[in-house]
Amino acid sequence: MPALLDNPLRVGLRQERMPEPQILTIFGASGDLTQRKLVPALYNMYLERRLPPQITIVGVARRDWSHEFFRDHMREGVEKFGGGIRSEEVWNEFAAGLFYCSGNIDKEESYQKLKAFLSELDDQRGTRGNRTFYLSVAPRFFGEAATQLGHAGMLADRKKNRLVIEKPFGRTLSSAKALNRTVRGVCKEDQIYRIDHYLGKETVQNLMVFRFANAIFEPLWNRQFVDHVQITVAETVGLEGRAGYYETAGALRDMVQNHLMQLFALTAMEPPNSLDADAIRNEKVKVIQATRLANLDDLSQCAVRGQYTKGWMKGKEVPGYRDEEGASPESVTPTYAALKLEIDNWRWKGVPFYLRTGKRMPKKVTEIAIQFKEVPFLMFQSAAKQANPNVLAMRIQPNEGISMRFDVKMPGSSLRTRSVDMDFRYDAAFGKPSQDAYSRLLVDSMLADQTLFTRGDEVEASWKALTPILEVWDNATDSDAIPMYEAGTWEPAEAEFLLNRDGRKWRRL
Ligand code: BG6
Repeated sequence: MPALLDNPLRVGLRQERMPEPQILTIFGASGDLTQRKLVPALYNMYLERRLPPQITIVGVARRDWSHEFFRDHMREGVEKFGGGIRSEEVWNEFAAGLFYCSGNIDKEESYQKLKAFLSELDDQRGTRGNRTFYLSVAPRFFGEAATQLGHAGMLADRKKNRLVIEKPFGRTLSSAKALNRTVRGVCKEDQIYRIDHYLGKETVQNLMVFRFANAIFEPLWNRQFVDHVQITVAETVGLEGRAGYYETAGALRDMVQNHLMQLFALTAMEPPNSLDADAIRNEKVKVIQATRLANLDDLSQCAVRGQYTKGWMKGKEVPGYRDEEGASPESVTPTYAALKLEIDNWRWKGVPFYLRTGKRMPKKVTEIAIQFKEVPFLMFQSAAKQANPNVLAMRIQPNEGISMRFDVKMPGSSLRTRSVDMDFRYDAAFGKPSQDAYSRLLVDSMLADQTLFTRGDEVEASWKALTPILEVWDNATDSDAIPMYEAGTWEPAEAEFLLNRDGRKWRRL
């Protein structure tokens, strides 16, 4: 086969960082994620010259597909979910690097067959033994797949072999520890890429730049000036046919342990001493380890769960959680969770961090809001008849941006004040953030850059902080006891009390 040359039809600027020629092997390739997200993201990156011409993708799953069938199936995915083919010639070239290898995740022979196939491809495509293995399979297979890959010698080269693992990483602290032990039994931590797709979001990465590239915010970022912090991840979607998984997970496992804890850690951590992956992850681990539920003696004072009942979303009636297909009619699985966390360190002692997330909320919005302390003495009359604290709100999605709320004088002869917002909007300044989270994370794993992946101790620290409440909620059986909220409304009343009893309230978004 002739050497693969770069096609001039591939558009866009060559990114500074280009992964080495390599084979990306996707386990679970007949699943939705591969067709909807992974391959469309890879094709678009290929088109934009962010992947080398030799890039080779091997799908592995049980079904007996041919290479041709796999290519057609992936093409459909790009057409439906990835913005279309755009250039036939580039598609043909990209598709020539797509292969399929049927196999059973728990059968040793399948790994031997895969190993032989990958070596063949190395010769054909010039991929030089560089391999990224992506586990897009049911979580119960993570350990098995890693072990088998290890035993087949496919993770042996620490520099060239990497393992990417989707969430959820464990179900409890002990299962996360066990999985860490299994995976570390066959490769080193610096070969493991645990995905949390929130870290791939542009505006999440901007959090660090905002904090550490500007001199004016960091001096205020502490207990002297901050009253409290609210982190909200509200979703409008319901169960979306995922009852099998969600009934065993619930909001704490599905969203808080990973996505919200990552937003929390990036907000609260100390400045790292470099941009090195481990320097950043060290700081995240430190702050998560110093974090606890605010009232360990009475968890009802610092954690509230909820479940949606039927209601209306955008003029359409939607079923309650218990009526969703596959959910138990007596289910006590929380679709909403609100927590009050505290951090035992010098920077944050006494500053509560309130986290909330829910499905079937009125709006999709992810936001981190830093609320500052009130002025010590208010001389002016406020239009709102109360002091208006300054709020710095970082909007992660949608309408990505940052706004700062402060008081101004209202026009007129009396000295009355009102709050206004100073707004920065990503789309106004740069156009929409272009890159989707999966593209960023896929490239980073192929570049062997671990910065945006969670480290084993970080995952464990996060499970540990949540274990007291997980245990209580997992053992709850009384279906009447879970607070309810109507689909299309904000949190249950109990979650309001969580803040009201501290003299605070949730932001209305
Ligand atoms: C996933 C959860 O990790 O994140 C889903 O399993 C959730 O339940 C999704 O809907 C939210 O992601 P995003 O990017 O839409 O905010």
